[in-house]
Amino acid sequence: MRLDERGLERWGDRIGSTVRAPVVIALEGRLGAGKSVLARAIGHGAGVDVPMPSPSYNLLLRYPAPDQVDVLHIDLYRIGSTDELWELGWSQLGEGNEIVLVEWAERAGGFMPDDHWIIGLTVPDEEPLLRDIEVRRVGHPPELPPFPMSVSVG
Ligand SMILES: Nc1ncnc2c1ncn2[C@@H]1O[C@H](COP(=O)(O)OP(=O)(O)OP(=O)(O)O)[C@@H](O)[C@H]1O
Ligand SMILES: [Mg+2]
Repeated sequence: MRLDERGLERWGDRIGSTVRAPVVIALEGRLGAGKSVLARAIGHGAGVDVPMPSPSYNLLLRYPAPDQVDVLHIDLYRIGSTDELWELGWSQLGEGNEIVLVEWAERAGGFMPDDHWIIGLTVPDEEPLLRDIEVRRVGHPPELPPFPMSVSVG
């Protein structure tokens, strides 16, 4: 599936507003692939009404959302080693009423929770304003809404 930025945001918004917590979503793709765009859209859909800056330096930012849900925005790009995961409270990740969004989840080694989604974003060579999106399920995470077909392109 290929989406423009608006389409990706609309899908993310719907994920945030409909997914059942707890859920863990890994966001994968190279620098500038759109992981943060999607994370912010999911947060927005979940009801986070403050800006969500990049968590690159503090690795984890937590946002309270309505209905006792917390949105956790994690970016593991600058993690030195998987030892640092435990300082983030990694062992409880996704056990509470949380929507957990993990950029650069590849860097968590084998330590992602058993049940999660992996959303991979790729920039097509010939279409710099679109993103190819691949969704993979690991274990039994709660369902994600389908792509918004009406706004998809390509
Ligand atoms: N279809 C699209 N979907 C998402 N972003 C797009 C799209 N087309 C263009 N862009 C642009 O690509 C950039 C994506 O940046 P973003 O910060 O989300 O990337 P990232 O994957 O989080 O990178 P990093 O690894 O540095 O955290 C933004 O500048 C956005 O405007
Ligand atoms: Mg990012």
